[in-house]
Amino acid sequence: MLKDFADVAETGSRDQKLLAAIDWERLPRHVAIIMDGNGRWAAQRAQPRIAGHRAGVEAVRSAVDTGARLGLGALTLYAFSTENWKRPRYEVDALMRMLRKYLRLELDEIDRQNIRFQTIGRIEKLATGVRDEIARASERTASNSGMILSVALNYGGRAEIVDACRAALRKLQAEGKSIDELNEQQIDRELYTRNLPELDLLVRTSGELRISNFLLWQIAYAEIYVTETLWPDFRRVQLLQAIVDYQQRSRRFGGLKLVVNAK
Ligand code: IPE
Ligand code: IPE
Ligand code: MG
Repeated sequence: MLKDFADVAETGSRDQKLLAAIDWERLPRHVAIIMDGNGRWAAQRAQPRIAGHRAGVEAVRSAVDTGARLGLGALTLYAFSTENWKRPRYEVDALMRMLRKYLRLELDEIDRQNIRFQTIGRIEKLATGVRDEIARASERTASNSGMILSVALNYGGRAEIVDACRAALRKLQAEGKSIDELNEQQIDRELYTRNLPELDLLVRTSGELRISNFLLWQIAYAEIYVTETLWPDFRRVQLLQAIVDYQQRSRRFGGLKLVVNAK
């Protein structure tokens, strides 16, 4: 497995030490990241918030590359929440422009790494230019069999649960069944994340101890890792550190026995 990093991890580097510490049989199947702290990163440099978002793109590139090289089943990135519309128009526009540019510039590399791209969230509310770029990336990578990269856009955990309940109830109704038959599996099957493995690890950057409406259903038994690192400074080392930390936790899922993650 180390060979996938041979071209980038210098001998004796911190990367390499962390890579050596990773138990390849117990990788998290699905890692999600709340990419936070771009504004503070910019403020520390007396720059406009948008400069922080721009710098954050490099961190996205690095996380996607690392996730694919590690062989994660899924990586989900929180890029724009349903609440982020409250920000000034120029900031929202800048974020959307950067997303388009990222997809345009990175699509070849994403495809080369056998990554399947998708979005989660109510993307119908996004501008057509962004939606076109999303459609292009999703179609081009649809048959890739490697890591599934999901970018959460106009995403809200509560909205997702509402959407899933509606869809599940509609199916029950169509089958002439009672709403009392609604169960967790039926809701699971309607979530935006229905094609993704169980969420094992949730990372939040910039030290905030909150969930901000992300993957509310899916975090039920996820391990949470918070780092003080601001998103634009987040690189491979920090992601490897999160995974090593995750592997040191004992997960019990409410029982008494330690559960080792199957790959
Ligand atoms: C995260 O950085 C990026 C998005 C929410 C799009 P912020 O813009 O929230 O940065 P802070 O939290 O103000 O530092
Ligand atoms: C969460 O960050 C949303 C994204 C990372 C896209 P926010 O910066 O919007 O969250 P709060 O406002 O600190 O809760
Ligand atoms: Mg923030």
